[in-house]
Amino acid sequence: MKPAARKHPHLDSNKIWNVILNLETDLPYPNNPGVLSLEFLRPPPGHQVFIGPYDDVAPGEDTYSPLQSESQLCAACHFGVFSDTVIYNSFGEWKNSEYADPNSVLYQTCQDCHMPPNGTDHFALLSEGGLIRDPESIASHKMLGITDIDFMRDSVSLTADAIVEGDSLSVTVNIRNSQTGHHIPTDSPLRHLILVVRAFDDNGVPLDLVAGSQLPDWTGSGDPETGNYAGLPGEAYAKVLEEVWSQQSPSGSYWNQTRILSDNRIPALETAQSSYTFQAPGNKTSLVKIQLYYRRAFIELQNLKGWKLSDLLISDKSMMVK
Ligand code: HEC
Ligand code: HEC
Repeated sequence: MKPAARKHPHLDSNKIWNVILNLETDLPYPNNPGVLSLEFLRPPPGHQVFIGPYDDVAPGEDTYSPLQSESQLCAACHFGVFSDTVIYNSFGEWKNSEYADPNSVLYQTCQDCHMPPNGTDHFALLSEGGLIRDPESIASHKMLGITDIDFMRDSVSLTADAIVEGDSLSVTVNIRNSQTGHHIPTDSPLRHLILVVRAFDDNGVPLDLVAGSQLPDWTGSGDPETGNYAGLPGEAYAKVLEEVWSQQSPSGSYWNQTRILSDNRIPALETAQSSYTFQAPGNKTSLVKIQLYYRRAFIELQNLKGWKLSDLLISDKSMMVK
């Protein structure tokens, strides 16, 4: 079953006049999530108000606010604290990254990446007085995210080396968060990356792992063909929550009290490196296969709920080594 198309709550963002941040932390106040940190302009009955990013709007029911183009617009809903545990924080992650530095060539707001121009040169009907504008100045309302495979594939760059020395085949994988303006994955603690690193001899028989990490149970026990990777060589990147009363982990029930057991997500512009050593098959060629998947929710939860959210294959590499 395909999940129903959702409307991003952002559709109401053109009514947001102010987002209240704590001046000491530059983040919303933890006890004021979402709308509690927002100030809306409400028109009187019979009228409309649209707050937009253009300073030349015709007078009428539309008005201008620079906030519409700033990351702060998104802050209230993309920072969330439950029982003192920071559950989602794409805003704070962005804020701590070079993307938030107005003096950096990398400076980019949430809107720059998630609402990129789509080439149109006007948005108001020309017959109604709409203006021709520089296409680069018109933000689309695409809200690029996990439904766009190219956007997801571009989010990281993966490089790998493999060499044989004596009876060891060593593989090193680097995943650089090169295009994501915050950690990858971000926000929903159900999201994770799964890196699978396998090596085979020339008959297709998997080589034994001598050193290096193996994928945790929560990547699924069973047939790898159906998305179960537990025990295979590799690494999973996630913020893992433990529900305090039941000690269950990873938990997605963050409305209950949780603690962060581990968090190895990859911050903006940083690189996660992992290394694996396999038993080399003598003087023969081996095949190394490296796959990086983005999984939207823990497989056990998906099975429990009957969700069919296919993993996104965001990187796929094969190398022959001898
Ligand atoms: C009023 C609250 C609110 C504001 C303001 C807001 N968001 Fe969101 N956003 C949400 C919620 C809630 C979700 C999760 C929606 C869901 O899962 O159905 C979400 C999801 C997303 C997603 C995931 C895409 C998807 O459809 O699953 C992206 C990307 C995103 N927001 C970016 C932004 C950006 C960029 C801004 C600022 C321009 C912004 N948001 C402002 C509440 C908000
Ligand atoms: C430099 C580009 C860039 C910037 C700046 C950026 N993002 Fe993202 N964002 C991405 C990419 C690429 C992804 C997909 C990879 C991932 O999930 O981390 C993403 C994913 C997300 C998601 C998760 C989507 C999902 O469905 O799980 C949310 C929510 C989000 N961004 C919100 C924001 C907010 C809020 C800001 C500003 C504070 C922001 N982003 C700034 C590039 C960017």
